[in-house]
Amino acid sequence: MAIYLNGQFMPIEEAKISVLDRGFIFGDGVYEVIPVYSLRAFRLQEHLRRLQHSLDGIRLANPHSESEWVNLVNQLIARNSGEDQYLYLHITRGVAKRDHAFPQPPVTPTVFMMSSPLPSPPAELLHSGIACITAPDNRWLRCDIKSIALLPNVLLRQMAVDAGCAEAILIRNNEFMTEGAASNIFVVKNGTLLAPPKDNLMLPGITYDVVLELAAANGIPHEVRKIAVAEVFAADELLLTSSTREVLAITQLDAKPVSTGKPGAMFARLHKLYQEFKRDVMRKSQD
Ligand code: PDD
Repeated sequence: MAIYLNGQFMPIEEAKISVLDRGFIFGDGVYEVIPVYSLRAFRLQEHLRRLQHSLDGIRLANPHSESEWVNLVNQLIARNSGEDQYLYLHITRGVAKRDHAFPQPPVTPTVFMMSSPLPSPPAELLHSGIACITAPDNRWLRCDIKSIALLPNVLLRQMAVDAGCAEAILIRNNEFMTEGAASNIFVVKNGTLLAPPKDNLMLPGITYDVVLELAAANGIPHEVRKIAVAEVFAADELLLTSSTREVLAITQLDAKPVSTGKPGAMFARLHKLYQEFKRDVMRKSQD
């Protein structure tokens, strides 16, 4: 597996970073996860735009221009095997003497990229759906930044795993649903797809955008608005999206069935549209 670190491609075993890297010491960095279908990075421009938003959010200058990123990403794809991959891009504020404040003058950021195989979700998961728990969203107030400081997300996901579940659905202030620990969540009620608004309390998912676009293009009623916790528990269907898990039905919540306990009609429709989109668009263009 070829990775990229600070200007060079190399085998992962040879990659070394300093223990003083601010990513290691403070979690002072941001990342992106980009799916690749048929060797094409999906929505690369949108991912790079979100990366810029994250870098702006932590006041770190972008170490590369857009064309440099495109070139690096394409090289990384070509150096790794498999038509479908997911890329991990990681930028930290670099190596400096330990001090919370930014190094002055700034140091060179650390840039790391790797690729992993991207399997489609197994048929079994599509058939049965996944189980989730709800958990209080105890993260910070800048969840729109794709920060590498993921300890709250790690603990929340582990709570789900400890309960035999695949994901934690996060509830802010005991009032409204934000997203999953590493995914976006949609609620379906009376045939309408409900999505929480892209604000500072959730990561603006690229898959979330695709699902809303598919809904709009196919006449599926949809609304983007705050979703009260009671609406999550009264949902006809719950859906989960992410670059690595595509669209999945959530069929159990807090050990109780969601509606019938089986993937519903909205899931079936969106999953089909997503697979067609993957085949006809993602595998054929840079969009
Ligand atoms: N996570 N919300 C959070 C907190 C996430 O970490 C992710 C993705 C998403 C979905 O975003 P997208 O559709 O752009 O993948 C929402 C990635 C996959 C990860 O951390 O591995």
